[in-house]
Amino acid sequence: MSTPIKILSVFGTRPEAIKFFPLVHALDADERFDSRVCVSGQHRGMLDQVLEIAGIVPHHDLDLMQPDQTLDSLTANLLTGIGKVLDEEQPDWVIVQGDTATAMSGALAAYYRKIPVAHVEAGLRSGNIHHPWPEEVNRKIVGSFAALHFAPTETAANALKREAVDPAGIHVTGNTVIDALHWITSEIARKPDLAGNLAELEQRFAGKRIIGVTSHRRENFGGGMEAIADAIRRIAERDDVAMIFPVHLNPNVRKVMNAELEGLDNVALIEPLDYPHFARLLDICTLMLTDSGGVQEEAPALGKPVLVMRETTERPEGVEAGTAKLVGTDADRIVAECTRLLDDEAAYSAMSKAHNPFGDGKSVARIVEALASA
Ligand code: UD1
Ligand code: UDP
Repeated sequence: MSTPIKILSVFGTRPEAIKFFPLVHALDADERFDSRVCVSGQHRGMLDQVLEIAGIVPHHDLDLMQPDQTLDSLTANLLTGIGKVLDEEQPDWVIVQGDTATAMSGALAAYYRKIPVAHVEAGLRSGNIHHPWPEEVNRKIVGSFAALHFAPTETAANALKREAVDPAGIHVTGNTVIDALHWITSEIARKPDLAGNLAELEQRFAGKRIIGVTSHRRENFGGGMEAIADAIRRIAERDDVAMIFPVHLNPNVRKVMNAELEGLDNVALIEPLDYPHFARLLDICTLMLTDSGGVQEEAPALGKPVLVMRETTERPEGVEAGTAKLVGTDADRIVAECTRLLDDEAAYSAMSKAHNPFGDGKSVARIVEALASA
């Protein structure tokens, strides 16, 4: 048998880990590859939650998260830390996912060593370098030199072609988040206890419609977060709804949300949920209110309307399909759009059609075959 292709998968945050684990499972199981994993530890607790559920033990863990880290110190530590791992491992390929500081730095460290980079979830563009910030530019940097671009949709592939990326390196694969969602759904079906810890809240809020909330975007820090908190407080004045809000561990999120929302009867501010419990929240909610990227992809797959608290999105497919709506971070607008979905049955049912523009759950298989024949 020929020498296996040595692949180093590099990731560091919760969403990367969720979108990476099905690929790591597949590479580990395929003898054409020597699969190695380096986690940066850009996130600590929220990364570990995913590693544990997915059963992934990294070969390298840089453990570099600092409290309230700045973009420049984070990026500097990532670049030197990942660089050392690359020198040791000397992989044939480095794979990164998405648009985080870990993805951008991992790709750059590989480029500095002339190691080819494969980019999962390539080609997402909002067209605005400040929204999402700094992710739009991180993604463009990786896209400017990656050798393989795994675009989740035709829209993303076309964005790359417009930037003169060689079409031979672009593969439309779907988004691996759908593979992850299928995997976790079947795990929960096998072992329901995996997602059993929301039972108490479900009982407390019985008879109310659940709104799931997440928020963490850097560009929303300050005024944006205050407005989001204000909107949540106003929506929760209704006694027919309850909000379940797993609060991101970023202190810039927690200080605002705790100060504005703690102690409200209809608002449960809880710790970040592990992936099975978050899947359960997606299942029991009436709608999602979020500024997350990944949630915009998962919720439509489950027929849950998403109100996206951003000015623009690099994932227009959900908006075009009518399952997601951009509502910005103006409190009045968030309250109005939420109220409309809660009170206008026709508006709700128009948005709650299950639709899945982001993939069929077979993205990983396509990525693996493209890597094997690259
Ligand atoms: C990061 C990514 C963002 C992604 C988000 C997903 C960058 C620049 N940002 O943003 O693209 O959408 O993750 O959640 O790459 N913290 C903890 N424990 C954790 C995670 C975070 O305590 O498990 C706290 C720490 O104080 C840390 C801070 O949150 O310094 C910020 O983490 P960081 O990864 O820099 O930014 P995020 O806002 O999480
Ligand atoms: N998620 C989770 N627990 C939570 C909140 C989110 O497991 O408490 C998952 C969610 O299912 C999605 C991903 O985390 O797959 C999104 O991560 P996040 O919103 O932090 O980052 P983004 O997608 O915006 O980069």
